[in-house]
Amino acid sequence: MTSAKGAQASPPSSPKTSIQPQAGLEIRDARPEDMEQIQRIYAHHVQHSIATFEEIPPSVQEMQERLAKTMALGLPYLAAILDGKVAGYCYATLYRPRAAYRYTLEDSIYLAPAQSGKGLGKVLLAELIRRCEQGPWRQMVAVIAGHDNRGSIALHRNLGFAYVGSQPATGYKFNQWIDVVFMQRALGPGADTPPEPWQGPPA
Ligand SMILES: CC(C)(COP(=O)(O)OP(=O)(O)OC[C@H]1O[C@@H](n2cnc3c(N)ncnc32)[C@H](O)[C@@H]1OP(=O)(O)O)[C@@H](O)C(=O)NCCC(=O)NCCS
Repeated sequence: MTSAKGAQASPPSSPKTSIQPQAGLEIRDARPEDMEQIQRIYAHHVQHSIATFEEIPPSVQEMQERLAKTMALGLPYLAAILDGKVAGYCYATLYRPRAAYRYTLEDSIYLAPAQSGKGLGKVLLAELIRRCEQGPWRQMVAVIAGHDNRGSIALHRNLGFAYVGSQPATGYKFNQWIDVVFMQRALGPGADTPPEPWQGPPA
């Protein structure tokens, strides 16, 4: 098992590209009325990629319920608005439900297909990390499907995540076994200090 300190040592490595505000780009909290566009983005990845292990696209209503649950925990759910349209979104969830995991978050990020590879993922995820560092949480885990999701692996590495392990053949989608890659980074002081008391979500 990786020790809590294990994810300490990786301060954001000097990013190869700097995070520049882009003309026409706004990163803000997602709103219920964004969920129709967000559902379309996610449905694309559900149906055409192994980036998510869901196989049936959730409805807009289900996506709105997921947004509400995230917000009820005080966790960020962000939308990237480019020229008035949702170009991508990302959010944090509790890594696992049991109480002692409460200081550890998992991130999820999805861009509209035409928006990949332009640096938007880095801007969006950097803002998610910044927001999570303002709360009581101390670690963030990326659960990445497949060793060949090089875009996601590079994105996370550029933002200070270190490879902490993988699980072979944990998913099965599109007639193939899929490994899961774990990357992790500290939030704020990480494991250097005890956390601020936080009870976590109601049981
Ligand atoms: C993963 C995703 C969020 C990345 O967003 P993005 O805007 O493309 O990311 P960025 O452009 O900020 O950074 C991607 C990095 O990966 C690199 N990269 C992209 N494709 C790559 C490839 N095939 N091989 C190696 N590196 C690659 C880029 O060069 C860039 O690194 P650099 O900044 O050092 O040059 C986006 O591609 C996406 O939505 N993918 C589908 C859904 C998904 O996989 N989500 C993650 C689930 S864990």
